[in-house]
Amino acid sequence: MLRASSLFNWLVAACLAVLMLGTQAAQAAGHERLSLDAGWLFHRGDVPMPPIKGHGMSYHNGKANNGWGAAAADFDDSAWRRLDLPHDWAVESPFDRNENVSQGYRARGIAWYRRYLPLAEADRGRHIELQFDAIATHSTVWVNGIVVDRNWSGYNGRSIDITPYVRYGADVNTIAVRVDADAQEGWWYEGAGIYRHSWLVKRDALHIATDGLHANPVKQGGRWTIPVEVTLQSSAKAAREGVVDVVVTDPTGREVAKGSARARVGALDSAVARMKLDVRDPQLWSLAQPNVYRVRAVLRDGSKELDRTEVQTGFRTIRFDADRGFFLNEQSVKLQGVCIHQDHAGVGVAVPESIWEFRLRRLKEMGTNAIRFSHNAPAAEVLDMADRMGILVMDENRNFNPSPDYMKQLTWLVRRDRNHPSVILWSIFNEEPLQSTEAGYEMSRRMVAEIKKLDTTRPVTGAMHGGLTTDLNAADAIDVVGVNYQIGIYDHYHKKHPKRPLTSTEDTSAYMTRGEYVSDKTKQVFGSYDDEPSSWGNTHRQAWKAIGQRPFIAGSFIWTGIDYRGEPTPYQWPSAGSFFGAMDLAGFAKGAFWIHQAQWVKDRPVVKLQPHWNWAGQEGKNIRVMVTSNAERVRVVLNGTDVGEQAVDPYEMNFFQVPYAPGRIEAVALKDGKEVARDVVETTGAPVRLVLTPDRKALAGDGLDAVPITVSAVDAQGRSVPLAQNKVGFALEGQGAIIGVGNGDPNSHEPDKASERSLFNGLAQVIVQSSREGRGTLKLRASADGLQAAEVELALNAVAAPPQVPTAEPTTPMLGWRISPAAADRPDPNVVLAETDMNSWGWDEPPMRRGPEASPFRLYRSSVNVRADRNDGHGQLTFGSIAGKAEVWVDGTKLGEKTSAEPAPFAVTLPKGGSRREVTVLVEAAPGQPSGLWGRVVLERGAR
Ligand code: GAL
Repeated sequence: MLRASSLFNWLVAACLAVLMLGTQAAQAAGHERLSLDAGWLFHRGDVPMPPIKGHGMSYHNGKANNGWGAAAADFDDSAWRRLDLPHDWAVESPFDRNENVSQGYRARGIAWYRRYLPLAEADRGRHIELQFDAIATHSTVWVNGIVVDRNWSGYNGRSIDITPYVRYGADVNTIAVRVDADAQEGWWYEGAGIYRHSWLVKRDALHIATDGLHANPVKQGGRWTIPVEVTLQSSAKAAREGVVDVVVTDPTGREVAKGSARARVGALDSAVARMKLDVRDPQLWSLAQPNVYRVRAVLRDGSKELDRTEVQTGFRTIRFDADRGFFLNEQSVKLQGVCIHQDHAGVGVAVPESIWEFRLRRLKEMGTNAIRFSHNAPAAEVLDMADRMGILVMDENRNFNPSPDYMKQLTWLVRRDRNHPSVILWSIFNEEPLQSTEAGYEMSRRMVAEIKKLDTTRPVTGAMHGGLTTDLNAADAIDVVGVNYQIGIYDHYHKKHPKRPLTSTEDTSAYMTRGEYVSDKTKQVFGSYDDEPSSWGNTHRQAWKAIGQRPFIAGSFIWTGIDYRGEPTPYQWPSAGSFFGAMDLAGFAKGAFWIHQAQWVKDRPVVKLQPHWNWAGQEGKNIRVMVTSNAERVRVVLNGTDVGEQAVDPYEMNFFQVPYAPGRIEAVALKDGKEVARDVVETTGAPVRLVLTPDRKALAGDGLDAVPITVSAVDAQGRSVPLAQNKVGFALEGQGAIIGVGNGDPNSHEPDKASERSLFNGLAQVIVQSSREGRGTLKLRASADGLQAAEVELALNAVAAPPQVPTAEPTTPMLGWRISPAAADRPDPNVVLAETDMNSWGWDEPPMRRGPEASPFRLYRSSVNVRADRNDGHGQLTFGSIAGKAEVWVDGTKLGEKTSAEPAPFAVTLPKGGSRREVTVLVEAAPGQPSGLWGRVVLERGAR
């Protein structure tokens, strides 16, 4: 029966929604890039598609909008978990020895995400794009039940044009994503789910394509120019013209060049607007001064701005020389590089940008000047950061395969990243068994050729771990030959191919556990003295010695800068994370960190003494002391007495045997006989108090910013206790959340998502993130049995959160209807339409205006999946407007009758019942009168 109150509510709500959406769109014409991270629904596990059986189902299955099960627009997701992206479900799982060691013993599996997407009427005619920065691993995306994208890599972003399929106004759209993380692409932890950001981009029908601004400065004949290419696309119905204005601004924001180009773009076509901009005496991008310029392109139609985009770039020259290695701005730079994967303690692969900033800053502290993002594309924001921080990047493609699907992944990478001054090399493969063969050569040749079509300024490399001596191999097709390990082949290869630039793409692979100084197989721990390389690798010291002494090797990329989950080589269970890192998974330094700092840092004196000095019970016994320094000499002093002095060995470092006596041991670094740096290590007492040391004291209240906080325990005199292993509990007050905890112990099975964590050798990390619109202060308290608690306050700075797509509740619109031919006599509303008859009744979607009719009666039939929250006896089947008299039948029962013939809203209450209902509306209109379902038909929650 019609319920006036609920109908009124519905009308008011619908009008408000339309008004709200309308206002938003009116405020934001032109280009809008909205975060789509908030408001997703998640279901872990598959929702199997029903088997396709019978003619009706098979027929429907062959149609565009055939999304079944959780892919369907009206699927009941009312019990699903609500969450915000980025999200990695694997890191939420417990460790399980039956899962894959390579993935860190974490279950992966299959899961689904859904999200409701409202679009304003005012958006009609714009170009609407759905963007996912990465989803691990295979994924399929449906919009309103239509498959709109499939992707077979967990590392590439996608821009999906959803313009043709979306609805505007009161009916929200449904996005469904099935993620198959049973698929794997790596032998390391890859995470699972939509683990990078997602976006909704709205532009004019004539717009700049995603990644469509190519503006990479080049130096020609002593002059700097930017050959700019702007790719325009149009989804308009006729050809259109636009003018693109491009402006280049220097690091202070001052305009230094500009130009314009006009382009005509055919309907559903694309065109490139080109111009060359001269920039006089730009400030060069270098490691010490990473001067970042911005290039902005604005597309206009007359005076109306249609779209705009902006990229970051920089002026620098790069060159690889076969004899002298890498040159940046014609200055020789030895690559002091690290390979890294992308997961961090606590958060898995869903790493906030600010945690990336922390990771990169830690690597710079170690002296790193180059990163190989192994073995896949990093998040876009990480490359922006590398530009700003002055870090060189080897940008690596995941899949070695020139077939069309995979080639798309490669060209996506180059298009996205080709403006970054930090990117100096494209890497097309890592350790491919085909590398030694003609197939490897031919595959590489094709991939290189495709890259060169998009970027001629950067060389291409590939990481060879063999195959270099065959007659024809992959190295013959690339510009810079990358060598993994095999330091013994450097001289031979260089001699045989004196014109080929060479770099290490991977070296070391030596094992260390942070804070441990004695290896113990039974406990699966390694000492941190850099004594234990893998059988195929070298110690950090050996590898750098081989590379540092050979000018023709452009540089080193150690395996790895930071630990990662999975690959606990040489161990397996219970070890679940790697031992290779110079830092542990939380970014705490291991022995190799200090070795590289001594080898790589040139601009300040450094010295570090290891191990800790807590060796109770070993008094008088020799303790091996490693001193790492970039000074000329180092002296070790124990309790005020000199123990020894040595000339610094810049490759091997310096070792001393020191009979243990508790107290104070010091390493003094000397240059020209004078002290330039000192490191002091003291024997500590038992822990008495916890200490919280945040990486920063304030964070942006934008729901994105996150701060790592170091947890440690100190003795009565305030000294950090290196072997403390206390379990620490955390409580957070304020508008934020603890998003993960860690301690860098590869053998720990404590959960990442928790409010407690044990210290591991004196340290743990807790990561705190602000809420969107977070204001005030965050107060973190840490407590542990027997220790004095610690507290820290972080200010939440008021900043505007990035613009968001509003969240929306499902509306369950009834869309697909069959319509009987008009009949002179009242038909039976329950007449069975043969399952095989796809033609005698028509097909349509509301609004369905019929009439004036020759004959008075028609049946309208559809079915709907009833969400649990509408299947409680209060659900309302609401018709925006029915013209004519009408009877509403559901599953053979008449639920309501509209007695007036005027077009008017109507609603019936749905009794409890099965989840799938068949709805038939019998409409009767007098000859010559309007007839039909004129408005939306929606199954909504009724008033209780
Ligand atoms: C290399 C490989 C890396 C990692 C490393 C461990 O062969 O490229 O991904 O597995 O070995 O030593």
